[in-house]
Amino acid sequence: MDQIDFINMQDGTAEEYAFLEEQATAYQQAHLVDHILGQLKMMAGPKLGYKIDRYEHSLQSATRALRDGAEEEMVVAALLHDIGDVVAPDNHSEYAASVLRPYVSEKTYWIVKHHGIFQGYYFWHHLGGDRDARERYREHPWFDDCAKFCADYDQNCFDPDYENEPLETFEPMVRRVFARKPWSQNAGSPLTS
Ligand SMILES: [Fe+2]
Ligand SMILES: [Fe+2]
Repeated sequence: MDQIDFINMQDGTAEEYAFLEEQATAYQQAHLVDHILGQLKMMAGPKLGYKIDRYEHSLQSATRALRDGAEEEMVVAALLHDIGDVVAPDNHSEYAASVLRPYVSEKTYWIVKHHGIFQGYYFWHHLGGDRDARERYREHPWFDDCAKFCADYDQNCFDPDYENEPLETFEPMVRRVFARKPWSQNAGSPLTS
């Protein structure tokens, strides 16, 4: 088989869907990381008033996580935490968290998903907002982890004089994390439950 016969999904056979799954998996293994890194690189250029652009900010975030001894998926999460900025600026935390979710722990997912509101602690009061909006999560088991992420790997990553590691340092880590079996193939996924 090199192509399915149906034009409406309701008419597909098990054999055809197995074939499509193979095609999708092979394409994902070949291209997913390149697409993600391509989106990361789209943030290079405009500084938007800061001293560095969002791409450099991302490298700096990952570099600080790496030098802090964070586990590999957290370094990757730091590298990718703002990738949604180019297409979903108002909910970029959720965007990045969703990209990572099938391949990382629930804890890492939660930290990335909530980094925006935790980051607000550093500046929302200057814009008439509530810097303590994160307090609604005070009792959450990962509150301190998300606060640390923002304190140590985000709010302090706008320094043009900090020596970032190049993307080449992180690319093998990204490839290892995204080579994990995604949650859709694990027990408990929407497919198997
Ligand atoms: Fe962010
Ligand atoms: Fe950031």
